[in-house]
Amino acid sequence: MRKKGEEFDPLKWLPKKLDKTLIGEYIKRIEANFDKNELYRAHLWTPLKLIALMWWLTIYSRIVPRYFSSYWYIDLLASSGANVIEETGDVILGSPLLSYLIPYEPFKRHIFVELDPQKRRTLDKMLRHFKFSNYDILEGDCNEKVYDIPLNDIDHYFCFIDCEGLEVKLSTLEYLLRYRGDILFVFQTSGVNRVFSKAKRGYNMRALDDFCGGNWWQSCNDVKNLLSQYMIRVKQRADSLRGFENFVDYVRVKGRGGGFVYEVILICRKGDYVKAWLDLKRKLEALEDKDVNIALKICKGELKTLDEFFGQRTLDSFF
Ligand SMILES: C[S@@+](CC[C@H](N)C(=O)[O-])C[C@H]1O[C@@H](n2cnc3c(N)ncnc32)[C@H](O)[C@@H]1O
Repeated sequence: MRKKGEEFDPLKWLPKKLDKTLIGEYIKRIEANFDKNELYRAHLWTPLKLIALMWWLTIYSRIVPRYFSSYWYIDLLASSGANVIEETGDVILGSPLLSYLIPYEPFKRHIFVELDPQKRRTLDKMLRHFKFSNYDILEGDCNEKVYDIPLNDIDHYFCFIDCEGLEVKLSTLEYLLRYRGDILFVFQTSGVNRVFSKAKRGYNMRALDDFCGGNWWQSCNDVKNLLSQYMIRVKQRADSLRGFENFVDYVRVKGRGGGFVYEVILICRKGDYVKAWLDLKRKLEALEDKDVNIALKICKGELKTLDEFFGQRTLDSFF
């Protein structure tokens, strides 16, 4: 009989996958075959959100395939497939490639949406280069293209929404919330704050109206308040649209010296498996500067164990 908790422990399973995946080899091939200028320019704190993505891809792919047969990966802001870290020049794999390499059970299909034609072309070239199949790339604004995804035909989805700013409207999120799925949403707190400060003075209010799904943000005092109101609204919408209770929570990621902040929000059905999220949350919230370099090493395939990042503690059984 399976030992309770052991088989599902992402702290044991994700390192095994990182070890087998040979991330470093993929990176070498990207460096040899792609112009760095075609890749997305990211920053030192990007690996942290990718670790959150890998973490939840691990959990998701161990659990959801047991209950559903048709589960798709959706990347609303997919970009080119790989990132260059501006501060160091390092190349790391982006979310589209990780959606193939990390899951325990492969997704049945991958849907990528990208606005920039050049990034879309590079992504297509990269997926073909690595012989990944079962995908569609939709070129255009994800707030329009989302309605072309045949969500009625599938059982479940994993959607990664990796915002640069306020590009994803609340109405887009609400549309996804009508269907069963897990959503990982990067809420760019620092970027939202900049727009919020200007909007409070009457500039570019439309962008915040779209992002928030109304003008309720006008009654917020600061971005912290805006974030908590946003979370409450998302939870209410998810519960009412789906007809079951959802888990809506965020983990805060701070850049060096705390000068830059984003949140990674998880929306999924409330259940035992969210305990694994709380572990990630504890770690990311206690982040030290040295962890940023450790996270980069993990994303470069140089560190195959997560011990240095998460510490030696083992997870509680969550099943
Ligand atoms: C932060 S990057 C995504 C990086 C990617 N998740 C990765 O890990 O490599 C955001 C991408 O969204 C694209 N984008 C911006 N606005 C968009 C929109 N409205 N619809 C679709 N894509 C958009 C940008 O061109 C950019 O490539």
